[in-house]
Amino acid sequence: MKTKIVQIVLLLLAGCVIGASFMGLSVVVMHKTSSDKYCISCHTNHSLVPDNPQFSHLYNSKGITVKCADCHIAPGIGNYLKAKAGGFKDVFTYMFNGDFNTKEWIDKHRSELAEKALSDIAKTSSASCIECHSKIKSDLPKDMEPLAREIHQYNNAKSVEDQKQCIYCHRGVAHHYNKEWATKHTESIKNN
Ligand code: HEC
Ligand code: HEC
Ligand code: HEC
Ligand code: HEC
Repeated sequence: MKTKIVQIVLLLLAGCVIGASFMGLSVVVMHKTSSDKYCISCHTNHSLVPDNPQFSHLYNSKGITVKCADCHIAPGIGNYLKAKAGGFKDVFTYMFNGDFNTKEWIDKHRSELAEKALSDIAKTSSASCIECHSKIKSDLPKDMEPLAREIHQYNNAKSVEDQKQCIYCHRGVAHHYNKEWATKHTESIKNN
């Protein structure tokens, strides 16, 4: 009887050790797969290489480099896992779509991808933007341009449902502004 209990305890302990190592390993994998280097390994020619995420998010007086995942993966473990699950699909698309990094494919699909990226961020109410720019919602920075101050104040004063999201006013904030897509998008907002 005693040996049986010892066996069970040992088994449980072994289970815990294996479980913990597995979790540790997946945390490492998860983090590795959120680095800019990882994103750019597939999006090689999507004009998203480091000199493209526009000026202020790469080079600014604050010395902060905003990573791809800072904007594209909203805060919270739920959003993180959802993004990772979506990532699995992208791995397959990437593997079986040899044209992914060609100019032709990118030109043809950029609007569609931008639309999808935008709608993913919109679903989280631009949470990733607000995570860093929290003061835009509550206590506007003192040195903000008067026009920007006025516009944000006006927007903040509206009810939460009527407020316009950051990304709809700041289209192309990190990537080269896609005029053709932006015009189309503005029209589709107007028509809704
Ligand atoms: C294994 C290759 C691969 C990696 C790594 C990768 N992507 Fe992608 N990504 C793709 C493919 C393929 C698509 C196009 C999917 C489609 O057409 O449905 C895509 C699409 C996108 C889009 C467009 C919107 C969407 O959801 O389809 C965004 C934004 C994006 N990726 C951001 C990222 C970020 C940020 C990272 C790093 C955390 C990353 N990607 C890492 C292959 C990859
Ligand atoms: C990891 C933090 C971080 C995230 C996430 C982030 N930003 Fe920023 N943002 C910054 C920093 C730092 C600056 C530069 C501030 C400076 O130089 O004074 C900046 C600058 C800006 C500016 C002013 C300059 C310009 O390029 O027009 C705008 C607008 C802006 N961000 C909007 C956004 C939006 C919209 C999002 C979400 C899609 C976002 N930011 C996500 C940190 C962040
Ligand atoms: C109704 C449109 C609108 C909305 C919504 C909006 N902005 Fe702006 N924002 C502007 C305009 C216009 C400017 C001034 C021009 C510029 O810098 O792009 C500005 C400027 C900024 C700046 C630079 C401020 C400075 O010091 O001059 C930041 C940072 C910024 N916005 C972040 C955000 C964030 C984060 C959100 C979401 C919480 C947001 N904005 C929502 C229109 C908007
Ligand atoms: C400051 C926030 C921010 C950062 C940093 C950022 N993105 Fe984006 N990204 C966006 C937004 C917002 C969109 C939606 C379209 C738009 O407004 O430009 C987008 C669109 C995209 C798209 C769709 C196609 C396109 O060209 O518009 C891809 C792919 C993408 N991002 C990948 C990346 C990768 C890879 C990185 C890192 C090298 C990155 N993004 C860094 C905010 C960001």
